Amino acid sequence: MKHLLKLEDWSTEEITEALNLADQLKYEQKHGIEHKLLKGKTLGMIFEKSSTRTRVSFEVGMTQLGGYPLFLSSNDLQIGRGEPVEDTARVLSRFIDAIMIRTFKQEEVEALAEYGSIPIINGLTDYCHPCQVLADLMTIREFKGKLEGLKMCFIGDGNNMMNSLIVGALRTGMSISVACPEGYEPPKNIIEFGESFGDRFELCRKPIDAAKNADVVYTDVWASMGQEDEKKIREAAFEGYQVNDELMSVTNEGCMVLHCLPAHRGEEITAEVFEAHANEIFEEAENRLHAQKAVLVKCFE
Ligand code: CP
Ligand code: NVA
Repeated sequence: MKHLLKLEDWSTEEITEALNLADQLKYEQKHGIEHKLLKGKTLGMIFEKSSTRTRVSFEVGMTQLGGYPLFLSSNDLQIGRGEPVEDTARVLSRFIDAIMIRTFKQEEVEALAEYGSIPIINGLTDYCHPCQVLADLMTIREFKGKLEGLKMCFIGDGNNMMNSLIVGALRTGMSISVACPEGYEPPKNIIEFGESFGDRFELCRKPIDAAKNADVVYTDVWASMGQEDEKKIREAAFEGYQVNDELMSVTNEGCMVLHCLPAHRGEEITAEVFEAHANEIFEEAENRLHAQKAVLVKCFE
């Protein structure tokens, strides 16, 4: 059974196959070529956090593939009232064909896969965001024509986005330099993963050091979903960790800027840099649809 619980679980070959399929599905979608590859299949979508892109792209994607998306808010499910995820997994496995889940703990996603008998797709946890990174890699390939040999730079928090970008970039032959304030580094296992790729991985303190000669600059919010109470502390900690013109001046010519969105202008990115790269950022958002359709097809295979 194929799941997408975290990007570490997918080999370079599997990632590349998904990116190739995503390109093909995007082409077919743009040219009105039907691809009802999941006719009659039902995807349950559990959301324990808010979402615009993930919800809409999975819902539309499943419909375009001929399947049926079922939105399940944790406000309505018994899971929100304490029913164990292990039981939810075994019940839903008898009704539907796959589950996409957005939640806090990575362990919850892993438990769904362990106790259920259908494919599980991670639509974001505090630990990782694999679907977003597949769309990011697709976008970079689309604009730059390749991934191998390019340098990515990530400025910000060492949580879900940074973690999955480190894995995705290194697995596809890119190098990646990340910059975060003290105390906001990625977890030990991700640092060890990065270090196993030698000098293709770099953990910096100063954003400007990470941005040198970058081909792609990436950033994300200073306070993620669930961290709203820490907003003030985080604003102080992340001051200076901003994608602005000064940072962009040390990057390679034609450097792209990506953002998973939602963006906070004036915090992690200036309005000027955001608007100058809006074509890349919104293509990236669109590619969530195409990349996730590829993930769905691969997981149902
Ligand atoms: N980037 C992303 O996952 O967006 P949503 O939170 O809107 O789904
Ligand atoms: N780091 C952000 C990503 C949102 C797509 C969050 O977890 O809220």
